[in-house]
Formats: sequence, structure tokens, C-alpha cells
Amino acid sequence: MTGSALRVGIHDLAFATAHQVLDLRELAEHHGVDVGKYYVGIGQTEMSVPAADEDIVTMGAEAAAHIIARHGSDGIRTLLFATESGVDQSKSAGVFVHSLLGMGEHCRVVELKQACYSATAALQFALGLVARDPRERVLVIASDIARYALDSSGEPTQGAAAVAFLVTADPALLEIEPVTGLHTDDISDFWRPNYLSTALVDGKYSLAAYLRSLEGAWAEYGARGGFAFDRFDRFCYHQPFTKMAVKAHDRLAALAGSELDREQRGAQLEASLVINRRTGNSYTASIYVGLLSLLEHDEADLSGARIGFFSYGSGSVSEFFSGVVQPGYRDLLRRDADRRALNDRVPIDVERYRRLHEDVDAVLGEDYSTAAETPGPFRFAGVDDHVRRYERA
Ligand code: HMG
Repeated sequence: MTGSALRVGIHDLAFATAHQVLDLRELAEHHGVDVGKYYVGIGQTEMSVPAADEDIVTMGAEAAAHIIARHGSDGIRTLLFATESGVDQSKSAGVFVHSLLGMGEHCRVVELKQACYSATAALQFALGLVARDPRERVLVIASDIARYALDSSGEPTQGAAAVAFLVTADPALLEIEPVTGLHTDDISDFWRPNYLSTALVDGKYSLAAYLRSLEGAWAEYGARGGFAFDRFDRFCYHQPFTKMAVKAHDRLAALAGSELDREQRGAQLEASLVINRRTGNSYTASIYVGLLSLLEHDEADLSGARIGFFSYGSGSVSEFFSGVVQPGYRDLLRRDADRRALNDRVPIDVERYRRLHEDVDAVLGEDYSTAAETPGPFRFAGVDDHVRRYERA
């Protein structure tokens, strides 16, 4: 509890992804790599690939539209847009979404960035606003497109997805508990200079950095009175690729001296990996895609279950925190719509994927119109006089 008896947390959570998909079997064949390396070694089977008229705004708007359709936008006075795939150095991507969704003008709209961590910063800032005034409802959108250079080692870990969640008092989905553990370290494991559209990464170092940061955040979480490992029912990690979450959970269990075997550890984690395995990395959205996956795919009734979260963003900042699933959570899920969002993506081949990848760089700095491709509800129409144009599809 936050000093008073006020309960704060996530009231509703919605998902969207890009409308095209590349099976990693095709990428493996293209590179002459055994598909087992992608399917099993890194734990990814597909990646979402945005069409030419999709980006973080269209995905973010699609996810947030589910929230607005159910709860309305009245009283939402803050919209936080977390991303590291920003479309403008000055204007928040959230302002485009605010407009596309017809939200009221009495609203503060801000973009946040710290690699894959920023959605968790947005969650914590939102909780602070609600704790100060329980009437506040804060809309958080996390939307990202993971892009590495063609033919680089990071290529099979690309992907795209968005989540939107509403942060309120007396949340219906997940109460967030107050104790957190933090860790910041100035390192160059993964970054994207302003002049590049693809990220640079020191792959093996980034894995070690992620695990070191987990140790640091977990240590502070414990020192600040956090729950012991055996008080958690499930875990949810940032998922650059799903095998990373498995490695992280093994490390945490070892740190905590847990005697759970591999199968028992897997049961605490597996359901959180189902959706990410098919979208690919969605950077800052990925841990909350993991939460949605857990709630939708775990066969057990998770009412009252405590989930441990580890949110990591390269560079690096991380946080360990916890939440308790609320009774009745299943009634809030959009299982069928989320399944359709994955199953109805248009399959593309490697040739088209590579052309789309190269086109992003080709059009930088020029005015252009995009072809109408996306079957989604919002589209990026192009750039006029350096101004981005969005429309309802
Ligand atoms: P790599 O060097 O090409 O792959 O790139 P590898 O040789 O390490 O193989 C990967 C795994 O596949 C290994 O398993 C192999 O044994 C296995 P492991 O030993 O790690 O358990 N393998 C096979 N398994 C089954 N059948 C086979 C087979 N062959 C091999 N036939 C790497 C891997 C992850 C480094 C690369 O994809 C990369 O650079 N990815 C991008 C960086 C990344 O995702 N880092 C994660 C930590 S940093 C982070 O999470 C932040 C981030 O999301 C960004 C942000 O914060 O904004 C990235």
C-alpha cells in the first residue's frame, strides 16, 4: 500500500502489432542457418514487419483505441507515450494518437525514452499522478519497432508491437505494489545514434549487461523490503527474444537460492513468452506484451497471484517490481481479438521484408505518400513539407 490504503495499478491492457509477418524459417533459409537457432536457440518463430503505412503511431493508436472504446476518454488528463522509435525529435508521438482518437484538449501528452525501460517509467509516473489524486486516469502507450541492420546478428530479434494501458485507482486488472528495486549503469551495450535508423549492439555484452542489471535491481528490491523469491507465483521479464527471459529467470532463481527445477521454473514463465515469440522484440512494449500473454495463456486462474517484473532498457536502466492480479481479470481480456491480430497478419517473404527495410532509409528527409497497404484502422499517409500525416484507414 502507498502510505494510505489507496490501491493503484493497471485497470485495462490492450495490444496491437504490425499487419505483416515474416516466418523466421524463411530468414534462416536465406542466411543458410539451421532454423533451430532461431526457433529454439533464441526462442523466436516469427517477427511482425510494419507495412509502409504503419509505424509506432498507427500501432499505438490501434492498441489505445481498444481502451478508449471500453472506457471512454473523459477524465484522461495525461497520455504518456513510451518509445525509442520516435518519429520526431520534438513532437510527441502521443499527440498524433491523441488527435486520431479524438481525445479532449485538456490533456498533457508527453513522450518518454530510455531504451526498453521507458514504459515502466511511464507506469511509475502514472501511479504517482493517481496516488496524488485518485480521480486521475492516465493512458500509457508503449509502441516500438525493433530494427537492426540487414544481415547483422540482431536481425532475427527484430519485431514490432504496441500496448496501451489505463492506470487508475482501484484497478480491475493488476494492483502494482509499492516496493521497487532500481539499477542504472552508463554502458554501451545497445544504442541508436540520431543519424541511424537501425540500432547498434554489442550482442554478447548486452546479454551479460542485462543479467548484471537484474542482479543490481533485485539486490535493491530486497534491501528495500521486497518479497522473497518464493512469494512470487509468476515472473515477467523484458523479452528482446524469449530465450533471454529464460536465462534471466534461471539467474534470478540461482541468486535467490531457489530449489525449483527447470520444469517448475518454466511453469512460472512460459505463458508470458507465447505472444513475444510471434511478434519479435517490441522494445519498451515487450514486457507488457509479456504480461498480456501471461494473463491470456496461463491455464491457471491467476486471481490473487503475485507477478515479479523485471524491466530492462539498454544503456542501461532497470527496475524490479511486483503486481497482484485482480479477481475477474479474465473478463477484461480480449483473447479473440489478440489472437486475430497475430493470425491475420499477412505473410511476406524475405525479398519483400528486405525491400521494406531498405525503403525506410531511402525516404528519410524527403516528402512522399505511402501506398495504402495496412488493413489496420489507422495509417501513416506520408510526409508533406516535413510534416507527418496520419489518417483513419
Ligand atoms: P548470435 O551470436 O548469432 O547467436 O546472436 P549465438 O551463436 O549466441 O546463438 C544463439 C543461441 O542459439 C545459443 O544459445 C546457441 O547455442 C543456440 P545459448 O547458448 O545462448 O543458450 N543455437 C542453436 N540452438 C538450437 N539449434 C541450433 C542452434 N544453433 C545455435 N541449430 C544474439 C545472438 C542474441 C547476440 C543476437 O541475436 C543479438 O545481437 N541480438 C540483439 C541484442 C539483444 O537482443 N540483446 C539482449 C539483451 S539487451 C536488451 O534486452 C535490450 C534491447 O531490447 C534493446 C533496448 O533496451 O532498447 C536489445
